Amino acid sequence: MNLILLGAPGAGKGTQGEIIQEHLDIPSISTGVILREAIRTGTPLGQQAKAIIDKGGLVPDEVVNGIVKERLAQEDCQDGFILDGFPRTLPQALALDAMGVTIDKVLYLMVPDALIEERLCNRRVCEGCGATYHLINQPSSAGDLCEKCGSKLMTRKDDKPETIRERLSTYHQLTEPLVEYYRGQGKLFEIDGSTTIEAATEATLRILEGQE
Ligand code: AP5
Ligand code: MG
Repeated sequence: MNLILLGAPGAGKGTQGEIIQEHLDIPSISTGVILREAIRTGTPLGQQAKAIIDKGGLVPDEVVNGIVKERLAQEDCQDGFILDGFPRTLPQALALDAMGVTIDKVLYLMVPDALIEERLCNRRVCEGCGATYHLINQPSSAGDLCEKCGSKLMTRKDDKPETIRERLSTYHQLTEPLVEYYRGQGKLFEIDGSTTIEAATEATLRILEGQE
């Protein structure tokens, strides 16, 4: 099963991707995670991406297309994969088609803008293993440490109110057109992402089991 998780910043793509990959035993691939890792380790890609990500813009299509093409060629993707945060522009969707990849379902997590800022301002991520928390909705049982690996929790640099607004604007302008692109192909499945994490997972699993 080849899946795409589509949705605004903070819609819950990463959260659902992590959960579904366990259910389906296929990897969830986040271009955001790959880019942040490149920034952390100071690679040329990271140096190029840092200023763009910190401002809430998009890394050039050809750069992310190359990352995804390389990642999808790896062994663990041969039985299926979940793409989180890619494609994010129409040219990226066309590039994915040109890679000869068939997408089975596009899971569109719908969350109103009004909820996004609260979600992202309260998000904390583990600086060790990258696990995601929310101070209210999904707190770590170890307080300000990660309950999985014990490392410190931090706030993502692009989770500042002004950067969140910029990311949302980028999303509406460049990514939202993909909703109609995939609806036109009969692959789009809408999920109410404004409910609890558990309810969004249940809705997603019903879609994957073909019950909706
Ligand atoms: P990326 O890391 O993909 O960021 P994003 O799309 O802005 O999405 P987020 O990771 O912020 O949110 P999410 O939907 O994963 O939500 P999460 O599950 O964490 O990309 C970062 C940057 O990299 C981009 O801005 C761009 O510059 C660059 N980039 C990446 N891909 C690119 C591409 N293809 N092309 C060009 N540039 C690219 O949840 C958010 C919070 O809410 C968490 O705290 C979570 O605990 C909580 N939560 C989740 N679901 C629920 C729920 N149902 N109820 C209550 N709380 C919830
Ligand atoms: Mg994410």
